[in-house]
Amino acid sequence: MLYIEILGNLPEMARDEAKAMLELAGGRIAGQDYLFLKIDADEGAFPYLNRLGLAHEYGMLLVEANSIEELLQKARDVDWPIKGTFKVDTETMANCRHDVLDLPRKLGAVIHAKGFRVNLSKPDTLVRVYCGEKLYAGIRLRFFDPKDFESRKAHHRPFFRPISLHPRVSRALVNLTKAKREILDPMMGAGGILMEAGLLGLKVYGVDIRPEMVEGAEMNLRHYGIRDYELKLGDATKLEELFPGKKFEAVATDPPYGTSATLAGRKRDELYEKVLESIYGVLEEGSRLAIAFPASFDGEAEAEKVGFKLVGKYYQRVHKSLERYFYVFEKP
Ligand SMILES: C[S@@+](CC[C@H](N)C(=O)[O-])C[C@H]1O[C@@H](n2cnc3c(N)ncnc32)[C@H](O)[C@@H]1O
Repeated sequence: MLYIEILGNLPEMARDEAKAMLELAGGRIAGQDYLFLKIDADEGAFPYLNRLGLAHEYGMLLVEANSIEELLQKARDVDWPIKGTFKVDTETMANCRHDVLDLPRKLGAVIHAKGFRVNLSKPDTLVRVYCGEKLYAGIRLRFFDPKDFESRKAHHRPFFRPISLHPRVSRALVNLTKAKREILDPMMGAGGILMEAGLLGLKVYGVDIRPEMVEGAEMNLRHYGIRDYELKLGDATKLEELFPGKKFEAVATDPPYGTSATLAGRKRDELYEKVLESIYGVLEEGSRLAIAFPASFDGEAEAEKVGFKLVGKYYQRVHKSLERYFYVFEKP
């Protein structure tokens, strides 16, 4: 058994991102306790789990218990796969029902008694305990360092535009499409979504209607070492003309929300409707689109009119005047 700790700000989107990666890996979510996911998968899933954007960490789940006593009892029977020194670290989730204050010391003593050495300042292995409805203990295998994502936030890129999603969210959009080979962002802006996809090894295709964005997105992709890209100046409502005969494995995009410059003079809702139709035309059957729309636009109804099937819908309040939904659609 494995576990994933997802991030708390978009929890349903984070869970579905994990689910999408597990579908590619041949695993599944076997249970959920708030932000803790129990995962039925083996080592073969690691390359897919390493792609996650909205996750804090994943690891090996070794003990599950209903009480502290049961946890300690079971921990005595576990062959702890600890390399070098260890430390016990507790995650008290908002739904924690147990008194875990003294648990690191008690569990540390159980593991120490098996011959492992504690090192509180620089442990080689982190034993993680999660407290929710139940208690879980395991070993951290991968921590998704926020610094890694922060280093790709808009203001760190050579071509800077403030209208960019957080890199973790861009990464999740890519993963929600279940892309394995390639992805298209037909309104790529500064290329934030394509950067995350390119870093996963996908071939990236991008379109923007403004020449400075096409140049800027290329600058950003090259800065982060991405070379397998094809960027075009053009109109997202005319994708079949831009890519004659081409069908894409996946599309992810974040259309402009309404300033006149980013809408390039078009009426917002009309642009969204045409873009949805145009994307539908260039997607392979059975493939997915991940897209953001402001809450004032009914993305679900409009996409269904075009033929898409809704797979997921996630609400986010960005600030007082911007509420949006992220949608995942499938072309049947
Ligand atoms: C919100 S931005 C995308 C930001 C991007 N996701 C990022 O992370 O940098 C939307 C982009 O859509 C572009 N755009 C507007 N109308 C378009 C159209 N008809 N075809 C293609 N691009 C368009 C704008 O120039 C703008 O760069």
